[in-house]
Amino acid sequence: MALLVNLDGDLVPPAEAKVSVLDRGFLHGDSVYEVVRTYGGRPFELEAHLTRLARSAERIGLAPRWDGPRTARELVRTLEAARVRGGAPPPDPAAAPWNVGEWYARVVMTRGAGEIGLDPALAVDPRAIVIVQPLQAPPARAYAEGVAVAIVGVRRPSPAAVDPAAKTGAHLSHVLAVKEARDAGAHEALLLDDAGRITEGSSSNVFAVRRGEVVTPPLAAGILEGVTRGVVLRLARAEGVALQEVALRPEDLEAADEVFITSTMREILPVVRLGARPVGSGRPGPVTERLHRALRRLAGGPAGLQNARG
Ligand code: PDD
Repeated sequence: MALLVNLDGDLVPPAEAKVSVLDRGFLHGDSVYEVVRTYGGRPFELEAHLTRLARSAERIGLAPRWDGPRTARELVRTLEAARVRGGAPPPDPAAAPWNVGEWYARVVMTRGAGEIGLDPALAVDPRAIVIVQPLQAPPARAYAEGVAVAIVGVRRPSPAAVDPAAKTGAHLSHVLAVKEARDAGAHEALLLDDAGRITEGSSSNVFAVRRGEVVTPPLAAGILEGVTRGVVLRLARAEGVALQEVALRPEDLEAADEVFITSTMREILPVVRLGARPVGSGRPGPVTERLHRALRRLAGGPAGLQNARG
């Protein structure tokens, strides 16, 4: 439920936020984007998101309408306006306490409209959009009990097709992966590459814990360099947790003591089922909880993990 949209610098309600049907973001997914969340009303890891947005644009040769500083200003301005306008739904009793009253922001830069055709040179008038809405993140229960993920049949497009490090709006394979996961009753889809190795989730990075060591596919596995992934790598080092970036196969996850996924919206979410099989003890594991506590401390916010885990 979008609350407020910033369209090229104009703050408008969602119903008035209109982009041309000739926009290449609409026609071809020819756009880049970021998803940012707030803690205490302030965007988290904003620099990292803006850097990745700029790099995504560079990787696909898209000249964004706004530079980084302008994007930061517009984002903060939109969040502030949304807060002042209010209209947020009443707090959800199922929400994790640190998510209550927080915001989700999606920043989208499209290559713009123009004559219909695939040639990017046809694009004129790139659009810059910020969509702000109350944060909808996994409920407290998901952290306390863990979630199921499914390794789906849809493959991660080869890095030779679309650079996986670019966060683009060309998302159909991930849409279909999520459909497959939901049909299997899973929270998230894990995608394999053409060689059958684990890459990442449809909108998350994946980690396993084996004998106390945290392992995750390297960037060379053809994945998005998740901002939360980066935070987790930093926290693991700071906490003295052993860590390795290494190629993983489905059997590595099946044999793991713990599995978790990371993303801006999920933070660190324990995975307790892989398809039909339990992961490890079938309960969220100690290393996952330790890293999540460290992330909660870093992010601050109104309440800690103990409130969710009871
Ligand atoms: N998705 N991998 C993919 C393919 C993603 O789309 C995302 C994020 C991640 C995790 O990245 P981060 O930690 O920076 O959120 C990994 C966002 C949240 C989304 O599309 O909603």
